[in-house]
Amino acid sequence: MGNMAETIIAANWKMHKTIGQSIEFARSLKDALSKKPVSAAIVIAPPFTSLGALKLELKDSAVLLAGQNMNAVPQGAMTGEISGEMLLDAGCKYCILGHSERRLHFGEDDRLINAKVIAALECGLKPVFCIGEKLAEREAAATLQVISRQLKEGLNKVSAGDIKKIVIAYEPVWAIGTGKTATPQQAQEVHLFIRKFLNEIYGEKEVAGVSLIYGGSVNAENIDSLMAQTEISGVLVGSASLDLASFLRIINFQ
Ligand code: 13P
Repeated sequence: MGNMAETIIAANWKMHKTIGQSIEFARSLKDALSKKPVSAAIVIAPPFTSLGALKLELKDSAVLLAGQNMNAVPQGAMTGEISGEMLLDAGCKYCILGHSERRLHFGEDDRLINAKVIAALECGLKPVFCIGEKLAEREAAATLQVISRQLKEGLNKVSAGDIKKIVIAYEPVWAIGTGKTATPQQAQEVHLFIRKFLNEIYGEKEVAGVSLIYGGSVNAENIDSLMAQTEISGVLVGSASLDLASFLRIINFQ
């Protein structure tokens, strides 16, 4: 933390939790926040099936909802898909886009992710745009090159006026679900590079409010040292967000 950007702690539940389990978690989270509010924006990305119920459960709370993915097309013959309008209707303010699991298992490339980013902005959703290098790319010293390409292509045609509506999540693929976290210094270094890269395109003034968040094996033990970095304005948490006690420790980082 340390710049002007909003602090965001986001939970990506991936393919976990039934509707009942989601409601139970949200109810306890809401209770905990009413006793001890936090200053960070708290965002939950549950599976699509839980969104409607969580919209109702969280309507009087500060907790915000996100989709985990969306289609780039606003409506139509797209069996199995969900549009940005549907996510808004189900209570979302954000949508995670370009997650490495979407890139890996569902063949999403930079161009498709860019189309989704543009579609999300058009309908009023804030993209949580994910980027990050694979292990082989880091070992080949290609990290910054990969990050540059993902930023350039994923943000193609995003205007200076829109850049502050986007949250950028740096999630090194080798750190996701592996228990291997990037060191706070490694994350800080890439975040600094991302901010400079965006500054060159959009100008410092527009970029100052863009939140750059880190994801990849974030947990109750490493949260404090990650959040101590000036360029880390939040985190995107997978497995450690499924358990309420560990998520509460994360949102109460020191
Ligand atoms: P883990 O926290 O389980 O490593 O997952 C990170 C992630 O992919 C969040 O989007």
